[in-house]
Amino acid sequence: MTEPAAAPAAAPVRFTVALDGPAAAGKGTIARALAERFGFVHLDTGLLYRATGMKARLAAGEGFDESDAAYAARSLTALDLKAEGLRSGAAGEAASKVAAIPAVRAALLDFQRDFARRPGGAVLDGRDIGTVICPAAEAKLYVTADDATRAARRHAELTGKGEDVTFDQVLDDLRRRDARDAARDQAPMRAAVDALLLDTTDLSIDAAIAKAVELVAGRLPRA
Ligand code: C5P
Repeated sequence: MTEPAAAPAAAPVRFTVALDGPAAAGKGTIARALAERFGFVHLDTGLLYRATGMKARLAAGEGFDESDAAYAARSLTALDLKAEGLRSGAAGEAASKVAAIPAVRAALLDFQRDFARRPGGAVLDGRDIGTVICPAAEAKLYVTADDATRAARRHAELTGKGEDVTFDQVLDDLRRRDARDAARDQAPMRAAVDALLLDTTDLSIDAAIAKAVELVAGRLPRA
């Protein structure tokens, strides 16, 4: 009698979803929903830059320089990612400043790339995931929405948390941050040539998520 040969262990799934786009386009919400739907891990890469900016500010004050920021990025800990106020407008502004510093981006690169190849699949959202961090990602989405829609969403989020800020201030901040993110020399915010475009301007959250799920499902390997 011969025993059936043991089936070879299935290779772990490695599947990266890269989600890029400007501030408040809905990337974070969509990324979390995709991770839940497909059982993938999720990394909000903006949080790394927010934590770096706030850590540099805390250590060296408003006028922190490039080496303060690079040191903050290199010494980032899990605890820094849980610091208070990382979702504030001030943290977004500090993030966008440190994000233009090459030594900061270099310090955060390997962590993001390793995360993206975790067995079981990963979703990363940011500005340069499909272009620089994971150019070979299996699925790339560029999520966008018009300026007024994004500002309205961010305004509701910030005032909901008690920030005293007007719609016009939020709109100005978003536009300034997008311009800086798109114009920097290293890893500027832009859609990868092979990214699928998802404009959420006229979509409810549920509709945007459904569309993203459909786009990613279309890239999954057939069973
Ligand atoms: O996505 P979020 O608004 O949290 O990002 C904050 C800032 O971090 C962005 O404005 C951008 O300057 C920077 N960022 C980046 N690259 C990423 C993610 C965020 O430069 N992959």
